Amino acid sequence: THQWRGIIEEYRDRLPVTGSTPVVTLREGGTPLVPAQVLSERTGCEVHLKVEGANPTGSFKDRGMTMAISRAKEEGAKAVICASTGNTSASAAAYAVRAGMVSAVLVPQGKIALGKMGQALVHGAKILQVDGNFDDCLTLARALSENYPVALVNSVNPVRIEGQKTAAFEIVDMLGDAPDIHVLPVGNAGNITAYWKGYTEYAADGVAAKTPRMWGFQASGSAPIVRGEIVKDPSTIATAIRIGNPASWQYALAARDESGGLIDEVTDREILRAYRLLAAQEGVFVEPASAASVAGLLKAAEQGKVDPGQRIVCTVTGNGLKDPDWAVAGAPQPVTVPVDAATAAERLGLA
Ligand code: F0G
Repeated sequence: THQWRGIIEEYRDRLPVTGSTPVVTLREGGTPLVPAQVLSERTGCEVHLKVEGANPTGSFKDRGMTMAISRAKEEGAKAVICASTGNTSASAAAYAVRAGMVSAVLVPQGKIALGKMGQALVHGAKILQVDGNFDDCLTLARALSENYPVALVNSVNPVRIEGQKTAAFEIVDMLGDAPDIHVLPVGNAGNITAYWKGYTEYAADGVAAKTPRMWGFQASGSAPIVRGEIVKDPSTIATAIRIGNPASWQYALAARDESGGLIDEVTDREILRAYRLLAAQEGVFVEPASAASVAGLLKAAEQGKVDPGQRIVCTVTGNGLKDPDWAVAGAPQPVTVPVDAATAAERLGLA
């Protein structure tokens, strides 16, 4: 019997760990790369979904968190802190439990999905709702980590990026080479930075023959990189990427430019359309922010920017169960029937 051991054991030689690093893991990574039939037909390409919602806490953050918490434990930290739009806090809280540490999380008041709040609570995090947005939370988390005995586990911590780059390794290991295009949602811009690092490392070592063009998509109301300026009051229904001043802004620009890629925006309407398409036509339930990658691919295809025949991977970053409000909103209420087969059959359109 063999199961996936988690990203640190699977990619130990490519990560900044030593034999004495205590590995804190929930066996994250090893996520499905799912062929997307409808998206492939629509674009004339071979489209795959990297389903990061299949990670232990339901998002890609677990890849970075196993690294950040393991290294924090090695350095003797007793407590960790992060700012979060929800997923980082859920992940930090769970991995802190595994490490026997205290976790503190700072979230923007009223702007995180219920499932994520539930995760932080049930894992026993100390939660502060900050009267501000994510960017304010990050400023506060940095200040606390500089002045108090608590380790910062946001993606400004470089070992987070190291862990997250393993998703690119998995894709190349699965496909035999890098795709032509890799599409991602962009919030704080850590993940696009991480994938680009992973792809360039594999190419430099000859594991992959090429690197992909990196395509990142922000939500229109929270698109500082597209606008070229900080967005003071970011807005979008995709609360995970409601960020106005991304910490890894410069790295995202480097990933775009070095790869010959692009960073563009998608509207909330386009995000929700892609969200529904993924669930209803591909069978993959993601949270709204995750659908920004697919929304971006569809937008680019409609603009004629997608040449047919290419191999494309879209990362869908988080599980749909995190934020089910958008699945229920606008959907018809299920009808109630008595315990009667004839009535049920009639209501189901079977009779
Ligand atoms: N998708 C989801 C589901 C996310 O939670 C995030 C970021 C992103 C995409 C964007 O990734 O920030 O690396 O560009 N969530 C962070 C958090 C900010 O606090 O959970 P990014």
